[in-house]
Amino acid sequence: MSSNFKTVLAIETSCDDTSVAIVGQDGWVHNVVSANQDLAHAPFGGIVPEIACRNHSVALLPLIEKTLQNCQMSWNQIDGIVVTNRPGLIGSLIVGIVTAKTLAHIYSKPLIGINHLEGHLLAPFLKDSEYSPPSEFTYPYIGLAVSGGHTSLYRIDGLGQYEVLGATLDDAAGEAFDKFAKMLGLEFPGGVKVDQLSSQGNPKAYQLPRSMIHEENLNMSFSGLKASAQRLIQSLPAQEVQEHRADLCASFQAAVVDVFIAKLDRALKQTSIKNVIVTGGVSANRALRAAATLWAEKRKAQLVIPPMRYCTDNAAMIGYAGIQRLNRGERSQLDLGPYPHILENDFVDRRV
Ligand code: KG4
Ligand code: ZN
Repeated sequence: MSSNFKTVLAIETSCDDTSVAIVGQDGWVHNVVSANQDLAHAPFGGIVPEIACRNHSVALLPLIEKTLQNCQMSWNQIDGIVVTNRPGLIGSLIVGIVTAKTLAHIYSKPLIGINHLEGHLLAPFLKDSEYSPPSEFTYPYIGLAVSGGHTSLYRIDGLGQYEVLGATLDDAAGEAFDKFAKMLGLEFPGGVKVDQLSSQGNPKAYQLPRSMIHEENLNMSFSGLKASAQRLIQSLPAQEVQEHRADLCASFQAAVVDVFIAKLDRALKQTSIKNVIVTGGVSANRALRAAATLWAEKRKAQLVIPPMRYCTDNAAMIGYAGIQRLNRGERSQLDLGPYPHILENDFVDRRV
């Protein structure tokens, strides 16, 4: 069964960003609106699940109304409803899913539940008045998805054809950035502040480990780096830590970036695939962007880093994945449920 879905409304509430988008079949983002909860979680130094779902429940319906208004669209111009149903915080997912199912039911719209990570991997295909993917960018491609919750390398061969080539064995890179930032007394989420401070620091000032960089696989590990950084900070006089925060940040960031570039290089050699994307919140990191761009030039690889609005959690990428699947005839039913993890068939696991 295939169908002709031209426009969908998509909902993303898997973690702490509430996001709604209206997306066209070709990836055109008619509109995306999001509510960020950083201020609500900052006093706790991390995401508090109860606060996340409470804030989703407050923000979601007004955002849905807003995006329809922004597009001057009514429900009869929406062909289907798309919602992230995995992986994520259960309470947060439930708010999005129950809302999506209710809308699908009362407006008689087809519904589809989407794997959040599939959204991240398809983000380069989104388009708006300021961004479109390079015309020669196609499947297959390598995807490095790096966020607060995930750090994995994928091979993407087409819609629904995803292989995990490698992943972090412990902390996600964003989580490591945030925990390191906390050690320096920076507010959550600290990744962006580490990036900012690093620009005035010397990346060679302190030696930190590049775990698994030489291993002949695509797995990664950041807990050793985090522990080494903690030991280093504890061993230094408090005044030196204060005075050399920029050097500490630059040294930590360089260790993470070196591992990513080494693993991207290994992935390219293993697969001979020269189309590459870097996505997820950590792809905002300027040192990572600069190093990945240089690496791609050296290897004559085609690198796409979608604009930040499509790299961080957003409903547009979910809408794109959803409309492709709806057009392939896939549907979810009103018993669609939330899952904290991916499902068995979401990815083929090629990790060694
Ligand atoms: O994808 P995202 O918005 O949310 C999820 O985790 O799903 O990613 C957020 C993560 C946080 O850990 C944040 O500290 C990190 O991305 N991050 C950065 C930068 N901007 C955001 N890490 C390093 N450098 C940045 N510029
Ligand atoms: Zn995400």
